Amino acid sequence: MRDAAVTATALLDWYDRHAREMPWRIGPLATGRPDPYRVWLSEVMLQQTTVAAVRAYYQRFVARWPTVTDLAAAEDSAVMAEWAGLGYYARARNLLACARVVVARHGGVFPADLAVLRALPGIGPYTAGAVAAIAFDLPAVVVDGNVERVMARVFKVETPLPMAKPELARLAQDLTPRDRPGDYAQAVMDLGATICTPRSPACGVCPWLAGCQARAAGVQGDLPRKVAKPVKPLRCGMVWVVWRTDGAVLLERRAGRGLLGGTLGFPGSGWDGSDAQAPVRAAWRAAGVVRHTFTHFHLDLAVMVAGVAGNTVASRGEFLGSNAFSPQDLPTLMRKAHDLATSASAG
Ligand code: ADE
Repeated sequence: MRDAAVTATALLDWYDRHAREMPWRIGPLATGRPDPYRVWLSEVMLQQTTVAAVRAYYQRFVARWPTVTDLAAAEDSAVMAEWAGLGYYARARNLLACARVVVARHGGVFPADLAVLRALPGIGPYTAGAVAAIAFDLPAVVVDGNVERVMARVFKVETPLPMAKPELARLAQDLTPRDRPGDYAQAVMDLGATICTPRSPACGVCPWLAGCQARAAGVQGDLPRKVAKPVKPLRCGMVWVVWRTDGAVLLERRAGRGLLGGTLGFPGSGWDGSDAQAPVRAAWRAAGVVRHTFTHFHLDLAVMVAGVAGNTVASRGEFLGSNAFSPQDLPTLMRKAHDLATSASAG
């Protein structure tokens, strides 16, 4: 049963006073709607990433590509370079694919329709709901990890995640108002991010305190329950970082759509511990090992470094000079390898 205190109105009153400022938001008391392109871009960036980490990326993207038409016309490599460091590179590849479909099939205008949004590349139920609600004020249900946590607590759902997902989505749907659904969607996310936080929620200042069933039972810190995650396996690999005397460094663009697909990096072995041939003959030195954690495994990557003559030709990859490459264009794993190799060759 729903408690009278847990209403969209109570939350919207709170949001009117406490909405977080974000560069893609227009604020709850502003008139008009935010630009759907900016809402979509920010929501894609925010998946699996914090608001703090996204801000600077978002600002650079909209400065460089102010409209979806600009983004659709961008070079793939330029978008991958701007995305470098945000992780989950399939999102960047889908971002471009989606921009191109919006331009080719929708005249550069994001469709104000949940089902049509959902059919765009890379747009799942969350992003479609968020764009429909935030950009077009449609009463779409928006469920992310914050919303699941808030629902699990307010309604004291004891079923662990991920099994609880359908129930939590239903509860979120029942609460979604027809009036101001866009502000409501952002309000639940703000509540989850600032008050109903994973650890030590600040229940004393919560607008839904009086109706929160988990708080009444004193179990707010235990919810949502989660099934134990499997321990992440450790995988191993190697990369070769080689500079020519003219300062160019050997790089290779990863093929495919898998992990890091389409990103720039150093030539390396597979990540299954198998051997591979160095891309040039050189006096290789071991610089050390970088550890990186992906969603499903840890990776230990041994970094080998060498210097070679200016006319050296490699068996794979391409030597790029500093005019064609900046370390900032690398995904975080390769950036770590680059930084280790740089300090090893300086030392
Ligand atoms: N996290 C992802 N999207 C968000 C939004 N629109 N408002 C608050 N937090 C978010």
